Amino acid sequence: MSYSIFQSPVKIIYGKDSITEVGKQAGSYGKKIMVVTGRSSSKKTGALQKVLEGLKKNNLEVLVFDKVESDPSAKTIRKGTEIARAEGIDTIVALGGGSALDAAKGISAMCTNPGDITDYEKNILKNMGLPIIAIPTTAGTGSEISKFTVITDTEKKIKMLIGGEAILPKVAILDPCLTIMMPKNVTAATGMDALTHAIEAYISKASQPMTDIFALKAIELISRNLPKAVLDGENIKARENMLIGQMYAGFAFSNASVALVHAMARPLGAYFDVAHGLANALLLSKVMEFNRPACQERLFQVAIAMGEKVEGLSTREGSLVAIKAINNLFLETGLPKSLKEVGVLKESIRDLAKDAIASGSVLLNPRKPSLEEIIDIYEKIY
Ligand SMILES: [Fe+2]
Repeated sequence: MSYSIFQSPVKIIYGKDSITEVGKQAGSYGKKIMVVTGRSSSKKTGALQKVLEGLKKNNLEVLVFDKVESDPSAKTIRKGTEIARAEGIDTIVALGGGSALDAAKGISAMCTNPGDITDYEKNILKNMGLPIIAIPTTAGTGSEISKFTVITDTEKKIKMLIGGEAILPKVAILDPCLTIMMPKNVTAATGMDALTHAIEAYISKASQPMTDIFALKAIELISRNLPKAVLDGENIKARENMLIGQMYAGFAFSNASVALVHAMARPLGAYFDVAHGLANALLLSKVMEFNRPACQERLFQVAIAMGEKVEGLSTREGSLVAIKAINNLFLETGLPKSLKEVGVLKESIRDLAKDAIASGSVLLNPRKPSLEEIIDIYEKIY
């Protein structure tokens, strides 16, 4: 294709205390609001309280659906949709990490479209979903500005990627104050997920000039602020930069795709419940080593964006610097360092690799991997 498409008509409200906008924004779309959130963390951190106060101040009727598990299932979407339809909900406020935002998108879609959520892995959502105000409390997925959702079909044991303008949020509110209570390991894993989005979008075969701008800026912001956010969760500036960085990464990958790291991370989640960000973190530098011959120039630019000294280095040397910097950043996060540590069984590696190679994300990877090469990468991090 000789031309590119870049889409994002989401209204973005960001910065400290931007959460105070929630009532006004939700009220401009409807009167009966369903807040879709996880089971406990938004209550513990006080984020839910802030949202409820904001909504009530604007005299909106509010119902809380707090049944979202991590990796939300089709069953949860059915339950949420049933309640939303019965109560005549007209607007959804999505509050939480990627799982809560993804569940909210599924419920929004199924309130206005016929059939079951599982029908839409292959079919297009014809009707626009209920308006969504998306409020992330982690800095990783970029889901608040993307038209994609990942829902797990627990019966078939597959993760369905469902997408379309029907579920693109109307408003994203990015308030760093909502992320300061995020535990260190979640900060680290979600931050590494965002870094992976940016790097994969930048080296993807579908990268384009507009996604490149967002990807490089995201790499810069995330690599400089993730260690600070992990070290001191209350560092508001670092938290704010992480939120902006992961959003930029979201713009980049939702228009240029992710690649082999994500293809290999998904089966780790599906088979062994390895958290998505952690799976990406474990794989990122080793997959970049594999990709390096096909994208040396791009990795050189990654090194520059990360603030590494590359003056006078050859393209090859600069690309090696980038991989070392990515690995150092990963080590600095304090996340587990091997598949063994996170409970993956060695004898399952071939099956994991078969799933990974079947993923659509492999097609846009700069270097085409064989099954044996994917197995080799898994073994290197075992
Ligand atoms: Fe991801």
